Amino acid sequence: MLAAVGSAVGLGNIWKFPYITGEYGGGAFVLVYLICIALIGIPVMMAEILLGRRGRRSPINTMRELTRSEGTSPVWRLVGWGGVLTGFLILSFYSVVAGWAFAYVFEGAIGSFNGLDGDGAGALFGDLTAAPDRLIFWHTLFIGMTVLVVANGVRSGLERLITWLMPLLFVLLAILVGYAMAAGDFARGLHFLFDVDFSRVFTVCDEAGQCGYTAEPVLVAMGHAFFTLSLGMGAIMAYGSYMPRDASIASSTIMIAIADTLVALMAGLAIFPLVFANGLEPGAGPGLVFVSLPIAFGAMPGGQFFGTLFFILLVFAAWSSSISLVEPAVAWLTENEHLSRPKAAWIIGGLAWVLGIGSALSFNLWSGEEYQIFGKTLFDIKDYVTANIMLPLGGLAIALFTGWAVGRRLPESELGMRSARLFGAWHFTLRYIAPAGIVLIFLNAIGVV
Ligand code: TRP
Repeated sequence: MLAAVGSAVGLGNIWKFPYITGEYGGGAFVLVYLICIALIGIPVMMAEILLGRRGRRSPINTMRELTRSEGTSPVWRLVGWGGVLTGFLILSFYSVVAGWAFAYVFEGAIGSFNGLDGDGAGALFGDLTAAPDRLIFWHTLFIGMTVLVVANGVRSGLERLITWLMPLLFVLLAILVGYAMAAGDFARGLHFLFDVDFSRVFTVCDEAGQCGYTAEPVLVAMGHAFFTLSLGMGAIMAYGSYMPRDASIASSTIMIAIADTLVALMAGLAIFPLVFANGLEPGAGPGLVFVSLPIAFGAMPGGQFFGTLFFILLVFAAWSSSISLVEPAVAWLTENEHLSRPKAAWIIGGLAWVLGIGSALSFNLWSGEEYQIFGKTLFDIKDYVTANIMLPLGGLAIALFTGWAVGRRLPESELGMRSARLFGAWHFTLRYIAPAGIVLIFLNAIGVV
């Protein structure tokens, strides 16, 4: 359970949630995201955990085992394979962002944040992302750290450390929210996050001033619900395989979802008041957190200490997430191919490292239009496609497999819920609401409905 919280709470909460909320205009986007967490994320997470606990293997072999024992089509095994691929792709940009956090630990420590204004913060971040060697250095270090932990098994010291560091991260976020109340434009931040104005979020205008409906925010909100809960690629299935028989899947899932959502909302409450008070652009993109929080650290009492500590905790949060991205692949390699865990971890990490070079270069050498597809850099594409397409597809398959293919008995016995009505409600949501929601959002995004 703690490992799953460690996996869920990461850059998705503190880096990605604020930046996409800023890009997609605030309140209405947040509401759609919360609905997706409740109606798609929670039921699918319960399904993913129960499959893992029933299979007790790596996701690839769990799916093979279950398709056999339940007599279903072998096509469902694609869930395992697709998940391994998705995990790779995510790690290959995740580690670059974790690298930014790493770099900022040192920037904080040497006092680079002191007295920073909006322009200064933008320049500090711009200098970092303009330097391929610096980005690749931190990316390499982060992949190395991830591999080291995975090589020694998921239940290593990091998880025990996270037990202490997570609450600390929470406290620090609370301090930042307090600071944002005192020094930021808190009212405006609050309105931005929680005023639901569908017309503003779901309208786009082109250069000629023509405005129309856009389905994209809904797709991105759903994608982020998967991303932030680590769903749809087998990470939670792999962790479920270590879960004790007597632990309650339903209550663990609810607790993970609540903790994860709280961290994201607190990050938003800390960041947006500062964004508005300092004249920053909420839609500034992936750098949003890295240009807003340093201003606060540069101005608050004890900011050098708090700033350094904050980015240290962010690196740890990213670290405990990234290990879950490689765990399905490594667990599979060690089961089937008779590789040792360290060897498997180095192979997977090495591949993600190579792929990650492209993410690092997306901000400098390969940032030009000739390197873009649909106006997106390699980094943007990996971020967009994994979260908004691959994870929801994985989640859809998990929902359909658990809800329809394996029958009712397996989930019923594995969940062991005391209330038949609650089980019924979950089963119904998993069979109908979650799949229909995912499919409708997909169809809506490509303009069919
Ligand atoms: N949930 C993590 C975050 O919010 C990222 C993550 C870890 C993830 N493992 C995952 C996302 C598996 C999707 C799938 O930072």
